Amino acid sequence: MPVIAEAQPNIALIKYWGKRDEARNLPAVDSLSLTLASLRTRMSVTFDEHAEKDLLTINNEIAPGMLARVSDCLDSVCGCRRPRASVVSESNFPIGAGLASSASAFAALVVAASHGIGQTLTTLALARLAGSASGSAARSLFGGIVALRCGPEEINLDPLAEAADWPLEVIVAVTEEGQKPVGSGAAMQRSAYTSPFYSAWLSRQPADFRLAVDAVAARDFAALAAVSEHNCLKMHSVMWTSRPAIVYWNAATLACMETVRALQRDRQPVFFTIDAGPQLKAVCLPDAASVVRDALDQTEGVLRTLQSGLGAGARILRP
Ligand code: PMV
Repeated sequence: MPVIAEAQPNIALIKYWGKRDEARNLPAVDSLSLTLASLRTRMSVTFDEHAEKDLLTINNEIAPGMLARVSDCLDSVCGCRRPRASVVSESNFPIGAGLASSASAFAALVVAASHGIGQTLTTLALARLAGSASGSAARSLFGGIVALRCGPEEINLDPLAEAADWPLEVIVAVTEEGQKPVGSGAAMQRSAYTSPFYSAWLSRQPADFRLAVDAVAARDFAALAAVSEHNCLKMHSVMWTSRPAIVYWNAATLACMETVRALQRDRQPVFFTIDAGPQLKAVCLPDAASVVRDALDQTEGVLRTLQSGLGAGARILRP
């Protein structure tokens, strides 16, 4: 009998870039994110005592390339003596393209697997398990606006606001559908070893994180906008100054940034953020959403836009 869980991707405003402990996949910095509502990954896990191997299907295709990571995650949730599993993942948005598909996938996977094996774990325990597979996945266990803090031995998560407490809209400008050239894990490692800006990035992160937490508490959109854009550009500066350089942007990403700047000059409450991929995410107050979406739709190089409010954390759909 399959267990089905669903999770939404989250978009970091204060970014996680770099690991403190590679083996345990512990982030080097605190981060803060928005969990989306309308993009989603549905994960079905069926344990089979008689099966000899795990099997992974992503969006109707067998996916051997991702299987080892999924099997490791199942081991960490259920133990190495667990029965093998058939895992079927379906996302309603492009995967591996900088839209945090690994966050929603691993968040849904730990929820489905732990339920399937009959465990009752706290959301924090599930988030830590998801985080050991993909750092950003820990945040998708919670809805709304989420803070992830690095403790000495483990991460802690703190939902700062429910989706309804501060309704924000996110417009994603999709500028390329393909998979990203370098995965975020390898890219972070490269940055840590080679970027001359990496140590500055680490040392300035606590101040950005505090500013963002305070901005959320005060519902101060302008303050959140300023620190989020700055933090995003700082992370990309670290990427650009890695050797070889990691540049996820394309011409349309820059054009979208210009569009957001023009909207800001028109006093629209909107700001941008960009992750490990060429898509730009514009965060705005709900009243500005249609103007922002129209402007991004008309920006050269934008293939399509997606829109989402803030949503809930990962959960079981069918036991
Ligand atoms: O969780 P990962 O390994 O896919 O890394 C996520 C990295 C960024 O999306 C660029 C930043 C973040 O905090 O989500």
